[in-house]
Amino acid sequence: MKEKLEQMRVTARDAMEAAGTEDLLQDVRVRFLGKKGDLTAIMKGMGRLTSEERPVVGALANTVKSELEGLFEARLKTVREAEIGKRLEQERIDVTLPGRRLSQGTKHPITLVTEEIVEIFSSLGFGVAEGPEVEKDFYNFEALNLPKDHPARDMQDTFYISEDVVLRTHTSPVQIRTMLRQAPPVRVIAPGTVYRRDSDLTHSPMFHQVEGFLVDRNVTFGDLKGILTTFIAQFFGKNIGVRFRPSFFPFTEPSAEVDMQCVICGGDGCRVCKNSGWLEILGSGMIDPEVFKAVDYDPEAYSGFAFGMGLERIAMLKYGVNDLRLFFENDLRFLKQF
Ligand code: DAH
Repeated sequence: MKEKLEQMRVTARDAMEAAGTEDLLQDVRVRFLGKKGDLTAIMKGMGRLTSEERPVVGALANTVKSELEGLFEARLKTVREAEIGKRLEQERIDVTLPGRRLSQGTKHPITLVTEEIVEIFSSLGFGVAEGPEVEKDFYNFEALNLPKDHPARDMQDTFYISEDVVLRTHTSPVQIRTMLRQAPPVRVIAPGTVYRRDSDLTHSPMFHQVEGFLVDRNVTFGDLKGILTTFIAQFFGKNIGVRFRPSFFPFTEPSAEVDMQCVICGGDGCRVCKNSGWLEILGSGMIDPEVFKAVDYDPEAYSGFAFGMGLERIAMLKYGVNDLRLFFENDLRFLKQF
């Protein structure tokens, strides 16, 4: 029995040294020191010993037992520490690593074009004004010399909220709102969203315009030409040809549409300019005396000009975009290019 005990002492010690995890170590303890373990098994033979041998073997068994228990506790501590160390190593966080970057957005091309136009007109002394998108008939039509029976008020084109309220069909009502609020001289640029019942390849029911107008004493058609030519040169490039073509708008007299040389073909003629070499980019004219009457400006003392342009069209020409719908689809692959 003594030999068995000595042998077990060695095997158990080796097994504990070899157990690398807490689980394995617990297994070893159960195998040797557990209720059904080796030590218990050996001790069952005590009954067959002589009364002289019994205390000697008993003492040895106790020594072995407490020695192994001590060893187990010590190993347990080491193994646990090693496991914690390993976990700390694996779950290590490098606090010096740079943070995850948020990707930066870009401005919508319509916003870019609006900002550039506003900037150019600001440098020419124009201030910025805005008006509501849900607008009274009076501002959108009536005061702009578009009386109730005027053909330009065709129901086909206008979203009516009620008999008297519409989604504004252009930014021109900002002229009226501004002039009713302040006495001349005025120089204002008014960008904004407008709505028309129109939707196809080249028309969107919601789009953007910039309105501009200037009222002072002795303003002439020459001033209109000067300002608009300067604007086009700054926005599209110095050497672009510009022409003024007679036209009609109820709120201006005389009126002109402004064309610029086609930026796509340089004036040679292409699909975009329908082979004319010219692109229409804005409407303009001298403010009609009827409009001055509606806002209580004296048409004998003051004169002025006004103009309006569609921003989607301007943006398409500036950036060479050939499909209007791209501006409204919010496809990041498109928007990121600006
Ligand atoms: N309001 C016109 C439109 O929506 C554009 C326009 C033309 C504005 C001539 C003006 C102007 O101020 O003088 O089509």
